[in-house]
Amino acid sequence: MKPAPIAVALDTDDLATAVRWTRQVAPCVSTVKVGLELYLKYGREVVTRVREAGGQRVFLDLKLHDIPATVEKAARAVADLAPAYLTVHASGGTAMVKAAVAAAPETKITAVTVLTSLGEADLDAIGLAGPSQDAVRRLAALAVGAGARALVCSPREVARVRAEVGPDIDLITPGVRPAGAAADDQTRISTPAEALAAGADLLVIGRPITRDSDPGRAAAEIAARLRAER
Ligand code: C5P
Repeated sequence: MKPAPIAVALDTDDLATAVRWTRQVAPCVSTVKVGLELYLKYGREVVTRVREAGGQRVFLDLKLHDIPATVEKAARAVADLAPAYLTVHASGGTAMVKAAVAAAPETKITAVTVLTSLGEADLDAIGLAGPSQDAVRRLAALAVGAGARALVCSPREVARVRAEVGPDIDLITPGVRPAGAAADDQTRISTPAEALAAGADLLVIGRPITRDSDPGRAAAEIAARLRAER
């Protein structure tokens, strides 16, 4: 069976745990996501080890944001690991996104527009005037214009971002919760089927899977429900 379009967020500071989760979920999901916590502690070894555990497709969520020359070198430093996705902040600007794209040609450079943790008051304070939706659309267009081939956005933004960037860009959505699951600290959530129906290509799901006593079963259930609802 084709694995479900889910990236399981391996949010832990323990490599053995990340490897175990990967072994459990890899049969039924397409991707695993390695974030800053794990990468800053263990470095490149994380990618090798999760691949050995069956997680072939790796989403490297490093959210790079620096001057273009530095981002280019940072992206080049991980390019040989050939992650499927590598994140950068779109607010780093056109030249920065282009630098990442040039440095990692095998990887879809994935832009983060506006962090969903920022409310309107935070955006005012950092000088991003106007409704956050406008900033999301503007930054999405900037990133795609600079060569980004994927974008991270909330499930509620997917339809608007899709209208802005067209069909060829992968839209990746966190904040996804199976019906009935705990929301945790996510506020604007959608179910997996809703997010896909709105146009998402890949769903980031962490705690509903990794906090389960049996992550493999939890992932398989979400994948099966998704297939049934589509
Ligand atoms: O556990 P949960 O399903 O909430 O995990 C969500 C994952 O997606 C985490 O790795 C988190 O850092 C990431 N993320 C998010 N919201 C964003 C961007 C990324 O929750 N806007």
